[in-house]
Amino acid sequence: MTSPRPDSPASPTTRRTFLGTAGQMAAVAGSLATVAHGAEPAQDKPPAVQPGGSDEIRVALIGCGGRGAGAAADALSVTAAPMKMYAMCDIFPQNIETRHKALVEQFKDKVDVPNERKFLGFEAYKQAMDALRPGDIAILTTPPAFRAPMFRYAIEKGLNVFMEKPIAVDGPSARRIIELSALADAKNLKVGVGLMARHNSARQELFQQLRDGAAGDIITLRGYRMQPAVQGWDLFPGPPKDMTELQWQVKRFHCFLWASGGIFSDYYIHHIDEACWMKDAWPVKAEANGGRQMRAKIDDQNFDNYSVEYTFADGTKFFYFGRTIPKAESKFGLFGHGSKHAFRISSTGHHPARSAIFKGQEIDDKNTVWTADKSETQPYRQEWIDLVDAVVKNTPYNEAIRGAQASLVTAMGRFAAHTGQAVTYDEMLNCPDDLTAGVESLTDSSPPPLLANADGTYPVPYPGKYKFEYRD
Ligand SMILES: NC(=O)c1ccc[n+]([C@@H]2O[C@H](COP(=O)([O-])OP(=O)(O)OC[C@H]3O[C@@H](n4cnc5c(N)ncnc54)[C@H](O)[C@@H]3O)[C@@H](O)[C@H]2O)c1
Repeated sequence: MTSPRPDSPASPTTRRTFLGTAGQMAAVAGSLATVAHGAEPAQDKPPAVQPGGSDEIRVALIGCGGRGAGAAADALSVTAAPMKMYAMCDIFPQNIETRHKALVEQFKDKVDVPNERKFLGFEAYKQAMDALRPGDIAILTTPPAFRAPMFRYAIEKGLNVFMEKPIAVDGPSARRIIELSALADAKNLKVGVGLMARHNSARQELFQQLRDGAAGDIITLRGYRMQPAVQGWDLFPGPPKDMTELQWQVKRFHCFLWASGGIFSDYYIHHIDEACWMKDAWPVKAEANGGRQMRAKIDDQNFDNYSVEYTFADGTKFFYFGRTIPKAESKFGLFGHGSKHAFRISSTGHHPARSAIFKGQEIDDKNTVWTADKSETQPYRQEWIDLVDAVVKNTPYNEAIRGAQASLVTAMGRFAAHTGQAVTYDEMLNCPDDLTAGVESLTDSSPPPLLANADGTYPVPYPGKYKFEYRD
């Protein structure tokens, strides 16, 4: 995967005081320069960090929600090493209990989480990671806002990491992850990022076909995720009585840009990452439209429709359309057009992808000239097989920079729509608006990073009005 601007300068904010030693600083500066210049990060190979004293790999689940349950099941299903769920953490006790019960039912003695290794609260992730040994795996499946501080602590503890997408919501958080990635490499830690489509064999076969010129030069990519919203977007009447405003914003994380990057980052990152993977480049620019038709008593920070035009360095375009309006047509898929043939990257859902190449420019199964092997790998399982394989065999494995770039490029589309301004890759990377500033210090009694207006509404994006998405 290459960066779009071989001449682009490294970020001016390469120096972060928390990074400590001069050697670490050098590694970090090197990493940012590498990202800007498009090469893969250098992979020194210090000795593997072996889980202390046994073959067993222990995992801690930090964020016991829907995806956390899925990732835990995928982790415990790996057979290359004895896997054990060893600690669990959340900000809501019932989430820990629900997931713990389900995991015990499914995996029995692969789950060893007594009450003293169930940890509660915003700072509890540290205790969950403290319960592991160097070389074990921390699973980060909270909302994305917390990725960077949790990744940082995992690196300090010598833990391998699996973290769900998006892993950053804006320029500053992407820079943090890129910087931390170098520290993970310096410690020879393995890092998986939940952009699972990269681990699907059908898409991998298509990627190779495209490199071999099977569709000709790629001219246009286009993608759609248009479906009713998964949850309602009306924030009225605000937090329930038994929840703090912070807990509530975290629970409704799709509604708040600081917590998740909104539905744009959370939903659309998969397709955006897949398209850029197939193009084998990141776009240099995003221009976008978007708006909100469905008004609420208290609007959240999302638009309900987005149309983005990404431009790659060679002029190739990638058009992306997202919509969450009920009763409008649902459409989900990702397609490309080459100078010889059209191709389908994925359709209907994340799995199966049904990747194929078609005669001419019409995407239609009757025109198929090539199709990927239909026994394609299940990507959520495969990403765990690949991560544990790297841990066991001590092979280089770090998806953090690629994940940060995918997160950043996704944020470009959202930022362009919300501001009504074109934004370049370098502008987004260096954008000073820090949506997750201070999340590392949140406690159960903290006010949320986004405060409501006096009338109970929240600041929302308004194209043309602000320098950044909803503020100057
Ligand atoms: N790869 C995929 O296809 C996929 C699918 C779904 C979700 N995800 C990602 O997984 C992440 C979680 O999504 P979800 O749908 O499981 O949400 P969720 O709300 O079901 O789960 C999040 C959990 O994290 C807990 N939590 C929040 N902040 C915490 C903190 N600071 N410390 C500890 N626990 C905390 C919440 O209480 C909740 O139990 C998101 O980043 C989302 O984008 C990925």
